[in-house]
Amino acid sequence: MKIVRAKNYADMSRKAANIISAQVIMVPDCVLGLATGSTPIGIYAQLVDWYNKGDIDFAQTVTVNLDEYCGLDQSHPQSYRHFMDEHLFRQINIDPKNIHIPDGKAADTAAECRRYDELIESVGGLDLQLLGIGHNGHIGFNEPADAFSENTNCVTLGQSTIAANARFFTDPSEVPRQAITMGIKAIMQSRKLLLVVNGADKKDILQKVLFGPITPQVPGSIIQLHPDLTVIAADAL
Ligand code: F6R
Repeated sequence: MKIVRAKNYADMSRKAANIISAQVIMVPDCVLGLATGSTPIGIYAQLVDWYNKGDIDFAQTVTVNLDEYCGLDQSHPQSYRHFMDEHLFRQINIDPKNIHIPDGKAADTAAECRRYDELIESVGGLDLQLLGIGHNGHIGFNEPADAFSENTNCVTLGQSTIAANARFFTDPSEVPRQAITMGIKAIMQSRKLLLVVNGADKKDILQKVLFGPITPQVPGSIIQLHPDLTVIAADAL
């Protein structure tokens, strides 16, 4: 595990963007696992900036996002697809056919979860997975549970996740109660993991994730077992 203490959010974002851009420059057709939430916004802004300067080319890059809310259409302003379009995809030259996000509106959720795992397998797995961490230790939307969820699955979001994500909605009652998330297996099989954490409010959970017992009650704790994990934290160590 490599832990990098960033000076502040901008520094965390630039350092993480450096790792992602190195991946894309070295392996242009790599598979990037991407995350949403507030933490990666600065990373995406930095990547867009370097793209505009001609330093990175995403023409061959494949992306696979971690999760999507159930019931939200791609065009819904709070859908994760919309988030990714706004912050990254619309601003770079990624080929739309190389963008993958679970379909939160799929009529058959179980079939959608299976399709997503098959898709990850068909692209050869992930080269680099970007992760954030929830206050309850979730990665993707894999919430604290009695066992790790191996495969892509439909989860009922915990109260703390609903409360944390309410800031993006006009009213907390609008936060979807379920989401489709990539499972722990695909995340752990990613050839590289990059965890970004920002803010003193994540200090306690980051300690548990990195140094506490490995338990499905703190789903992120499993990344301690990953052979190529980089953690970049600002104000959270
Ligand atoms: C988002 C995701 C979540 C977030 C986590 C932290 O795709 O998978 O695990 O990374 O909830 O969110 P922020 O960055 O908003 O604190």
